[in-house]
Amino acid sequence: MKVLITGSNGLLGQKLLHKLRVDNSVELIATSKGKNRVSEKKGYSYFDLDITDESAVARIIAMQKPEVVINTAAMTNVDLCEEKKLNCDALNVSAVQFLADACVKINAHLIHISTDFIFDGEDGPYKEEDKPNPLSYYGLSKLKSEQLLQAHAVKWTILRTIIVFGVGENLSKSNIVLWAKGALAKGESLNIIDDQFRAPTLAEDLADACILAAKKKAFGVFNASGKDIMSIYEIVERIAKHYGYTTNNLNKISTATLNQTAGRPPKTGFILDKSKEVLGYNPHSFEECLTIIDEQLKD
Ligand SMILES: NC(=O)c1ccc[n+]([C@@H]2O[C@H](COP(=O)([O-])OP(=O)(O)OC[C@H]3O[C@@H](n4cnc5c(N)ncnc54)[C@H](OP(=O)(O)O)[C@@H]3O)[C@@H](O)[C@H]2O)c1
Repeated sequence: MKVLITGSNGLLGQKLLHKLRVDNSVELIATSKGKNRVSEKKGYSYFDLDITDESAVARIIAMQKPEVVINTAAMTNVDLCEEKKLNCDALNVSAVQFLADACVKINAHLIHISTDFIFDGEDGPYKEEDKPNPLSYYGLSKLKSEQLLQAHAVKWTILRTIIVFGVGENLSKSNIVLWAKGALAKGESLNIIDDQFRAPTLAEDLADACILAAKKKAFGVFNASGKDIMSIYEIVERIAKHYGYTTNNLNKISTATLNQTAGRPPKTGFILDKSKEVLGYNPHSFEECLTIIDEQLKD
């Protein structure tokens, strides 16, 4: 099976790259905007592909003829999306249209990643068919991308996920576990919100969900998050306890005190029954994830 991934320099992109480049049943084409920042160069081909460039998307997909395209590229900074709506639309919505248009021409299956931020967080955890009501432009852009795929002739899978974390190389942004671990190690005093609840997701688990969906050519919307739902405060507290740092420097604060540009849903989390049953998705517990990260940081 020939698989093309977009955004291969990103966290999910790197995990997919490392899993698929050693999978003998897969021929892998990795693409991202700019140079390849992954040091391992064997087991795949790399192309510089900006997915907001319609003609480049059309050309590379027509030339490579992948059976499956996995779109991991996105604008994920929620406040930046609120401030730069045009840029957000270009990457999170129009580019998905370009990918779908290119895929349908060669009958390729498109796997796309969405988010818990399509919901308002008033009655999480959510099932796949629950009614979206985004509070932020980022959430709205991802909802628009879902709706355009659902109305498109392309074969598609949408995997919805929540706070993705993990270890990668030369990443352009950090994630909650690496950030909290680093700050706790320095003994910094941390103000953490305790009125938002999430199910954080190990990037490897999300990559597995993508690969299961690709191999099964699963059609439809699937929840693909971690299985433990907790407040952001509890996430950081569990990180501290797991790695043996004091929790004395952790202070609980409320979302309202932060004055963030974009709205955030108070309580999300996903019900994973469908993805477990149909895809065979089986994410790690949060503590298992922290142990995996510790091993990777030692390497
Ligand atoms: N991270 C989360 O907490 C979270 C939560 C819910 C859903 N999601 C979704 O999960 C997916 C993967 O997230 P992630 O955390 O792996 O994101 P990420 O680390 O930010 O990776 C995205 C990658 O896409 C690349 N990219 C940016 N603009 C591009 C363009 N125009 N063309 C091609 N590539 C481009 C980025 O390049 P640079 O590295 O050069 O910037 C980056 O390497 C996204 O769809 C995201 O919306 C993420």
